Amino acid sequence: MKILLLLQVSFITILVVFSNYTSGQCLEDQTALLIKFKNNLTFDSSDSTKLAMWDENSTDCCQWPGVSCDEEGHVLALELDDEAISGGIENLSSLFHLRYLEKLNLAYNGLYSVPIPREIYKLANLMYLNLFLASFNGQIPMELSRLTKLEILDLSGGDLQLERPGLKTLVGNLANLRELYLDSVSISLKGSEWCSALSSSLPQLRVLSMIDCKISGPLDPVLLNLPFLSVIRLDYNDLSTMVPDFLANFTKLTTLSVSWCKLFGPFPSKLFQVPTLEELDLLGNENLTGTLPEFPHKSALRELSLGETCFTGLLPVSIADLPCLTMLDLHNCNFSGPIPSTMGNLTNLVSLDLSKNSFTGSIPLFHEANNFYSIDISNNNGPLSSAQLGDLLSLPSLHNNYLNGSIPRSIFKLSGLSNLSLSSNSFSGTINIHAVKGLPSLSILDLSYNNLRIDVQGSNSTSFPFPQITELKLVSCQLQKFPDLKNQSIMITLDLSDNNISGQVPSWIWSLGLSYLNLSCNFIESLEEPYDTSSQFWSVIDLHNNRIQGNIPIVPTSLIYLSIASNNHIGSIPSFICNLNRILFLDMSNNSINNKLPPCLC
Ligand SMILES: *[C@@H]1O[C@H](CO)[C@@H](O)[C@H](O)[C@H]1NC(C)=O
Ligand SMILES: *[C@@H]1O[C@H](CO)[C@@H](O)[C@H](O)[C@H]1NC(C)=O
Ligand SMILES: *[C@@H]1O[C@H](CO)[C@@H](O)[C@H](O)[C@H]1NC(C)=O
Ligand SMILES: *[C@@H]1O[C@H](CO)[C@@H](O)[C@H](O)[C@H]1NC(C)=O
Ligand SMILES: *[C@@H]1O[C@H](CO)[C@@H](O)[C@H](O)[C@H]1NC(C)=O
Ligand SMILES: *[C@@H]1O[C@H](CO)[C@@H](O)[C@H](O)[C@H]1NC(C)=O
Ligand SMILES: *[C@@H]1O[C@H](CO)[C@@H](O)[C@H](O)[C@H]1NC(C)=O
Ligand SMILES: *[C@@H]1O[C@H](CO)[C@@H](O)[C@H](O)[C@H]1NC(C)=O
Ligand SMILES: *[C@@H]1O[C@H](CO)[C@@H](O)[C@H](O)[C@H]1NC(C)=O
Ligand SMILES: *[C@@H]1O[C@H](CO)[C@@H](O)[C@H](O)[C@H]1NC(C)=O
Ligand SMILES: *[C@@H]1O[C@H](CO)[C@@H](O)[C@H](O)[C@H]1NC(C)=O
Ligand SMILES: *[C@@H]1O[C@H](CO)[C@@H](O)[C@H](O)[C@H]1NC(C)=O
Repeated sequence: MKILLLLQVSFITILVVFSNYTSGQCLEDQTALLIKFKNNLTFDSSDSTKLAMWDENSTDCCQWPGVSCDEEGHVLALELDDEAISGGIENLSSLFHLRYLEKLNLAYNGLYSVPIPREIYKLANLMYLNLFLASFNGQIPMELSRLTKLEILDLSGGDLQLERPGLKTLVGNLANLRELYLDSVSISLKGSEWCSALSSSLPQLRVLSMIDCKISGPLDPVLLNLPFLSVIRLDYNDLSTMVPDFLANFTKLTTLSVSWCKLFGPFPSKLFQVPTLEELDLLGNENLTGTLPEFPHKSALRELSLGETCFTGLLPVSIADLPCLTMLDLHNCNFSGPIPSTMGNLTNLVSLDLSKNSFTGSIPLFHEANNFYSIDISNNNGPLSSAQLGDLLSLPSLHNNYLNGSIPRSIFKLSGLSNLSLSSNSFSGTINIHAVKGLPSLSILDLSYNNLRIDVQGSNSTSFPFPQITELKLVSCQLQKFPDLKNQSIMITLDLSDNNISGQVPSWIWSLGLSYLNLSCNFIESLEEPYDTSSQFWSVIDLHNNRIQGNIPIVPTSLIYLSIASNNHIGSIPSFICNLNRILFLDMSNNSINNKLPPCLC
């Protein structure tokens, strides 16, 4: 026991020494090098929070922000991420004389279009090098491969190549590397090549991130020579391969992210059983098939994205027992059957997307304690062929395949909810528009195409606080009149088409700052005067299939889509139509307009 305790204490001490850099008083030569370094950099001092504060008059550079030293006063770490540095990095001999440097962070700077300086090899003690989004370009210099103490290397996000020489040469001597990030670096290697380059050189590797690297498949089992590998991110590479079973043999795997990789074939269900797995992202592999097995008790799964794959079958009941689940995205798959009612108990779930599947039955009751941000359960009418779609239009009975029942009141008590889409199902019942009062963070609401009746009685912007919404869609909701939206100030999209609204389009609608307005298929008779069409945000107005009388109204000039077809308009086509210089779609058919076209239309 004592020995254990001692070890632990000394381990903590070591950690403290290592991370508590700023103990020493800065040595003179180090100050001089830093001053030179700073003077040679081009940076925007108004956006810099560290460099700009370096005070050449204060002798202790170890106190400068972004600088850390060892006890003797050597600079060990420079953390100059997001310092608005835009140039001067290529000739920084002063930087490369900071020989004790262990940590260099230049992430998030705009070092436009210069190669990574070859002299970087002089920083032979570097353990941490972060050039993420530092805007370097060109071939990665092989001098980097001489930094054999590196543990963390991030070259992501620039326009870099690692081709001649390639990955094998770069990592050949970096045996201490634990984390390697090469996102968007052009590597262009076959599966066997990049897999063996990594597995023969990087026994300590824990994190591998090679998103969008132009690498191909297959995934080679030699990767199992990396026993500590726990994070694998290979998204946006054309791997065009099957997902191999052996991935389930990594005993420390926490993240497997392979979205948009053109993976195909059956996904090994063993992978869902890996007890350490926290994040699995298979998004967009449209030819990947599989089903969800029951999840193991005490699964660590936090994020599961299977959207736009060919996964089929039922949701296992055990999905409601994933205590850590924060994100579940199953959109546009082929899932069917009921949504387990206990899913409403997943109190950590923030984002749920079950849209475009064939789920049936009712939606779960959501706990008020839930932290939901986004719920999308729309379009559960299954992946329909166009033939089926034709049937659907003539056979309302197919609606039996949709989610049905009433929308539980509890959903309107999820106070963090920003995005709620329940459209295109068979939900029924009456909802008073007042219900949205319980959703103060709401930004997107879509209840369209159900069997719902939305009651707007008593919606009165002067008497009750309605959340500020950007997108409101209440298509086919049996609305009898306009909800009072006078107080909305950030609304962009309003779709109230296919309802039972009669009377006038209220004047306030023109001052909301909308871009998209669809009031088609109602019983509207006129536009309340005055209406102000001067806003330049407008792009779509659809008023077709109403009973609007009189002359064609003046419309905003910024429109790209305008339909006033199938109304009771009279008179001639007004010449302001010629001012619609962005218009792509214009329909005025089926009115009583005399058909003399202004010359500009031809
Ligand atoms: C670097 O700064 C020194 C003065 O500190 C100056 O003499 C030298 O020309 C600069 N070099 C570059 C490449 O700007
Ligand atoms: C350093 O001192 C000089 C002279 O006192 C002064 O002009 C200069 O602004 C000071 N530099 C900084 C960064 O404060
Ligand atoms: C900066 O480096 C480039 C190549 O690395 C060289 O051509 C140029 O002369 C150097 N400029 C200065 C001022 O040293
Ligand atoms: C993975 O582990 C299984 C046993 O769990 C074993 O049969 C299989 O050979 C392993 N695969 C590889 C490639 O090592
Ligand atoms: C999926 O398979 C189809 C038919 O073989 C093919 O046309 C399509 O390109 C594949 N999609 C992907 C992402 O590989
Ligand atoms: C979708 O799921 C059904 C069973 O629910 C199955 O019959 C069908 O083959 C699946 N379609 C695809 C494309 O996997
Ligand atoms: C939550 O779980 C408890 C016990 O597991 C259960 O009694 C309750 O009905 C569940 N609540 C919901 C909303 O599913
Ligand atoms: C919901 O649909 C199922 C068939 O999928 C049906 O048995 C049930 O009666 C429906 N419930 C309601 C409330 O319409
Ligand atoms: C809201 O839901 C829509 C539809 O699923 C989705 O496209 C969008 O990204 C979501 N927005 C946010 C902020 O989550
Ligand atoms: C809205 O509420 C205010 C105050 O409660 C009331 O004066 C006004 O008549 C109401 N307007 C409508 C359209 O109900
Ligand atoms: C709505 O707007 C009116 C006038 O712009 C304002 O007096 C009222 O307080 C607003 N109501 C709410 C609930 O924000
Ligand atoms: C919609 O309005 C029409 C005509 O005003 C009326 O005949 C019809 O009953 C209304 N439908 C509903 C569902 O209110």
